[in-house]
Amino acid sequence: KATCKIGPSILSADLSQLADVCNNMMDNGADFLHLDVMDGHFVPNMTFGHPIVKCLRKHVPNAFFDMHMMVDNPQNWVEDMASSGATQYTFHYEATEDVDGCIRKIREAGMKVGMGIKPGTPVEVFDQYIEKIDMALIMTVEPGFGGQKFMGDMMPKIEYLRKKYQELDIEVDGGVSPNTIDQCANAGANMIVSGTAVVYADDPRQVMNKLRDVCNE
Ligand code: DX5
Ligand code: ZN
Repeated sequence: KATCKIGPSILSADLSQLADVCNNMMDNGADFLHLDVMDGHFVPNMTFGHPIVKCLRKHVPNAFFDMHMMVDNPQNWVEDMASSGATQYTFHYEATEDVDGCIRKIREAGMKVGMGIKPGTPVEVFDQYIEKIDMALIMTVEPGFGGQKFMGDMMPKIEYLRKKYQELDIEVDGGVSPNTIDQCANAGANMIVSGTAVVYADDPRQVMNKLRDVCNE
């Protein structure tokens, strides 16, 4: 499997200090930043949208921005996110009736394509899109909030994808910490999102190193 990358989710951080938080994570060795966008429809919570991302990009020029789009009709925000500086656009399979159209738009806008599924969605939905996407996101909590309990019973989904697609980037998101990383690593995930475990840590670098080391073992 590909080398493991660690992407802190800044959802649970002090969002009024977003640029500082992001730069602090990068200085502490983050491989990418996972930015959670919520619209109050697809999930019962709200965060921020492309205007904030555009401002943030000026202060965090070089980081890989993985936009986790927990929004209905994700195809509507593709161009705005691209011009605001997003690197990867990770939408939810459940959120659009035109998955192919959404993927095409993301490509045309020059971003990498991520597609995610909620815990209740079967992993087989990836099979017909696998040639067109760069990353598959397996949620290990119901999307909407940080700090929830890791769902270990999602690991067979990761195993299914890793067995079939050795080169695919597989991201895991929700409740990932030094206590649960071994399960993710054994199943075959290589893009590791961790929110509260990293941003609330006294030493975020140490936690990210630990996650990376276990994942690459
Ligand atoms: C949940 C978000 C996650 C979340 C991760 O809806 O997609 O990215 O912030 O936070 P933790 O690691 O605390 O579950
Ligand atoms: Zn997320």
